[in-house]
Amino acid sequence: MCGIVGYVGFRPAANVIVEGLQKLEYRGYDSFGVATNNPCLEVYKCEGKISEKGERALNLHGTIGIGHTRWATHGVPSDRNAHPHLDCTGRIAVVHNGIIENYAALTRELAARGHVFRSETDTEVVAHLIEEYYDGSDLRDAVEKAIARLDGSYALLVTVEGSDVVVAARDCSPLVLGIGDQEVFAASDVTPLLGYTERVVYLEDGDLAEIDRTGWRIYSRGTPVQRPIEHVDWDVETVKKGGFPHFMLKEIFEQPKVFYDTLHGITEASLPERYRRPSEITVVACGSSYHAGLVFKYLCESTCRIPVRAELGSEFKYFTPPLKGIVTVITQSGETADTLAALKKAKAYNCPTLAITNVLGSTVTRIADHTLYMRAGPEISVAATKSFIAQLAVLMGLVDLMKGGNPFGAALERANSVIEEVLLLDIDKAVEICRPAEHLFYVGRGLFYPIALEGALKMKEISYIHAEGYAAGELKHGPFALLSTETPVVALCPPGDTYSIMLSNIKEMKARNAPIIGIGARGDRELTDIVDVFLPIPESHELVQLVATSVVLQQLAYRTAVALGRDVDQPRNLAKSVTVE
Ligand code: F6R
Repeated sequence: MCGIVGYVGFRPAANVIVEGLQKLEYRGYDSFGVATNNPCLEVYKCEGKISEKGERALNLHGTIGIGHTRWATHGVPSDRNAHPHLDCTGRIAVVHNGIIENYAALTRELAARGHVFRSETDTEVVAHLIEEYYDGSDLRDAVEKAIARLDGSYALLVTVEGSDVVVAARDCSPLVLGIGDQEVFAASDVTPLLGYTERVVYLEDGDLAEIDRTGWRIYSRGTPVQRPIEHVDWDVETVKKGGFPHFMLKEIFEQPKVFYDTLHGITEASLPERYRRPSEITVVACGSSYHAGLVFKYLCESTCRIPVRAELGSEFKYFTPPLKGIVTVITQSGETADTLAALKKAKAYNCPTLAITNVLGSTVTRIADHTLYMRAGPEISVAATKSFIAQLAVLMGLVDLMKGGNPFGAALERANSVIEEVLLLDIDKAVEICRPAEHLFYVGRGLFYPIALEGALKMKEISYIHAEGYAAGELKHGPFALLSTETPVVALCPPGDTYSIMLSNIKEMKARNAPIIGIGARGDRELTDIVDVFLPIPESHELVQLVATSVVLQQLAYRTAVALGRDVDQPRNLAKSVTVE
C-alpha cells in the first residue's frame, strides 16, 4: 500500500527512482511522483500508472531524490494528491506510506499559523510540520520534532532543497535501506534494490535514518543505534516477467518449484519443541492467507487432534477471543497491518507466537517469537498465487512435525509433478462458462471448503465477476434461491469421505439448472456424467489434490480475467500489501 523509493549517490536519481517505483507498483498504482534535489528541488507528479507514464519523470536532474507510487486513502487519485507533498516554501518534499491519524487537528493548527494546504491528503501536514521546525540547516532535527507530533503509521522520506541528505523515518510501515558503494537507497521493500545491492538494513519502528553519499546513521527516538546489515538472496530476474504476459501467470507457473522448495525448507530443526504440542492454536490472517489458515485448521484438528481457531486479522484486534496455547500468524508480505496488530495483541496476552511469511526481514519477523519462511520469492502480481501454495506447503509441513512420523511427507513429494500436469490442463470450456457470468458459486466440503473460498476470491478480485465460496451443504440454506442457468457453480468433488454427499449436492444444483464445472479425480465417470465441464486432477493423495485444485482455480480466474480484458496484475482498487487497518 503505497511504495516509496529514495536515492542518494552518483547515478541520475530519477532513473533509479522511476525504475524502483515500477517494481513497487503492486503496492499502489493510482498516481506517482518524484522529487530530485539538483540542488534546486525539481518535482514531477501525476495521476496514473508509473508503468505507463513514468518516463515523464526521467528528465528531473540530480543524484538525490525521493519518489512514491500511491494507493489513495485520503483524497481521490489526482495530480494534486499525488506525492511528494511540499511545504509552503516549496523547498521541503515528503513522501509517505501509512496514515497520519491526527492530521485533521494538526492541519487546523498549522492553517491557523498561516500554512496553506494544497491537497486533501493526510501526508501534506508532515511537510508543513517539518517546515515549522526546520532551522535552515538541520533536517534530521526538524523531522525528529515533526514525527514526535504524529499519531498513526508512517514510512517517510524527506529531502530539502540544497541539502545532500535524505531523511527516512518509520513507525508501523516498512522501510529498508540498501547499502551500495558511495550510494544508499531507501525503499518500502527490497525489490527496487535488487540488481544494485544485496546489502540491506531493515529499520525498526521508531527509527530515523539520515542518509548521504558517505553512508547512513540511524537514531531511535534521538539516540544513535546500530542495525545489522543483512544479505538478500532474491534474484533480480524474479521481479521481471521473463517472457510471460503477466506476473500472475509467471507466478502460477513457478508453483511446482515453489511448493517443492518450501516443503523441503521445513525440517525437524524448523520448529522448536515448545510449538509442537500446544493445548490450542489460534491462527490469524487476512485474505488468501486466512484461507490457508482454514486449511490448516481442518488438517491439524483431524490429524493432530489439537483444537485450532482461525480468525480474521481485521476482527481479531477488536473482538479478541479467549486465548490459550500458541498464536500463529500467516502473511505473505509480513506487513499486513491487521495481522501485525493481532500479533502484537497476542504478545500482550503472553502467548508464544509463530509467524509464517515469505519476506525475510519483514515486520512480522521482528515481532513474532519464531518464524517459518515460505520460499516463494517475490510475488509481484496483486493476487496471491504462489504464496498461497507456499503457505500450504509450510502448513502441511508443520502438521507433519506436530504429528511426528512424517505422515504426509512421502505423498507430498509428488505434488510438484502433479502441479506441472494440471498447469497443462485444457480449461477453455470452463472459461467459456465463467466469462459471461455475473455471479458464480464455488462449493466444496471439509478441506476443500477453504479452497472454494480461495477460488472465489481469486475470481472476483481479478475478473470482477461476483463469486461466492460456500460450504457445499450450506447452499440449500438460502443461496439455492439464486441458482439458475445464469449462475454457474464450480464444484470441488475429490475422492474421499465427502465424495458421495458432494455428488448428491451437485445433482441438487443441476436440478436447479445451474451449469456445473466439476473438479475431481481423473477417470471419475460418475462425476463426468453429471457436470457440464469436467476438469480432471491426476490421481494422488488428498493433500496433493487440494494443492492441484487450487492451481486449477487460479488458472480459471486468470484465463477468465484475461478473456474479459482485465488488468490482471493490478486489479482496480486493490494494492498488494495492505499496510493500513
Ligand atoms: C488475495 C490477496 C490478499 C492477501 C491479503 C493478505 O489474492 O492477495 O487477499 O492474501 O491481503 O496479505 P498477506 O498475506 O501479505 O498478509
